[in-house]
Amino acid sequence: MKDDFFKYQAQTTPHPLALEIAHAKGSYIYDTEGNAHLDFVAGVSACCLGHCHPKIVQAIKSQTDKYMHVMVYGEYVQEPAVAYTKLLASHLPKNLETTYLVNSGTEAIEGALKLARRYTGRSELIAANNAYHGNTMGSLSVTGYEARKSAFRPLIPNVRFIQFNSLSDLEKITKKTAAVLLETIQGGAGFILPKNDYLKEVRQRCNEMGALLILDEIQPGFGRTGKLFAFEHFDITPDILVVGKGMASGLPVGAFIASHKMMATLQEHPKLGHITTFGGNPVIAAASLATLKEVTESQLITYTLEKEQLFRSLLVHPLIKEVRGKGLMLALLFEKIEIVNYLVLEAAKKRLILFWLLFEPKAVRISPPLTISEEEIKIGCLQIVDLLNAYQ
Ligand SMILES: Cc1ncc(COP(=O)(O)O)c(C=O)c1O
Repeated sequence: MKDDFFKYQAQTTPHPLALEIAHAKGSYIYDTEGNAHLDFVAGVSACCLGHCHPKIVQAIKSQTDKYMHVMVYGEYVQEPAVAYTKLLASHLPKNLETTYLVNSGTEAIEGALKLARRYTGRSELIAANNAYHGNTMGSLSVTGYEARKSAFRPLIPNVRFIQFNSLSDLEKITKKTAAVLLETIQGGAGFILPKNDYLKEVRQRCNEMGALLILDEIQPGFGRTGKLFAFEHFDITPDILVVGKGMASGLPVGAFIASHKMMATLQEHPKLGHITTFGGNPVIAAASLATLKEVTESQLITYTLEKEQLFRSLLVHPLIKEVRGKGLMLALLFEKIEIVNYLVLEAAKKRLILFWLLFEPKAVRISPPLTISEEEIKIGCLQIVDLLNAYQ
């Protein structure tokens, strides 16, 4: 099967890990030889409830028994999407009451950017250096990493960049700016948190200039940082919130969320301002609904912060320069790229799944399922420390 994988399935790197998957359950992925691999990555923060959580599987099965796809987005009243968007609104500030469900994080970013331009009548977009927002043309245009996008230029015009956490750069936000798009916690850049009152200052400047604030919570959303949404740590509210990844416990999904008034502008001039065949798909909405119920009705979010402390107490080693991030979105920072590559590849041999970050080559990602047990955390951390002890 591996040969066919390399021949028939398009690849994005010359050396994919190419683990052959048989099945997955809880915090473990099982290969075709029957080995269990402890998952400290969770499908890059997507499997927030672990693999094949019984409540999610049941929700999907119940929905597939009823109907799977009946109409393009927005025409018919489909209970899973309505129930989901209503429940989501109940967990969000008042201005984030209306949700547009789409198929992926990058499409949600596209929708948010279109909405910002349509609502403000302005075209300039401001994003941050080293930000990652997805891989379609619009999202790539606001991604702040030239090396990964120069081959695809020309991208969309009128995008400017600021330095995340730089207060002086906020002057670049002006009355020409439609929106400022930031990750609440920068992911690909190395799990960088906003410092002090940075996000409050951004919010303030946006208010003064009449620019919208869009927060990309595709990675930190749905409990990963110890709050349902990471912006709750920083005492601000965005005008548009973008989510995805963990939202449906491992099914493809995304959403952008704004006020009813703002969203209504997608209905006219032009009408059908954003359309999608599969957005709001009932099976995925059912999985999203079951996920949101489980995340909010259990103690998972509270435990996330306790689990972060456990990771931090166990991952102490002279080679680890810093453990960065929040909750179960953690990055181990090293002095040399070689240590990162060694750790990820040797851990894979020991059946512990770790991964790289997109733009920070000196970091190792740790983003396990929120359901990971203390025992599993201890097993994996011990393996990491043993591997670092063996590093020469
Ligand atoms: C912060 C952030 N924004 C956007 C995306 C793009 O989401 P997707 O891969 O679902 O298109 C990602 C995915 O890694 C992300 O982490």
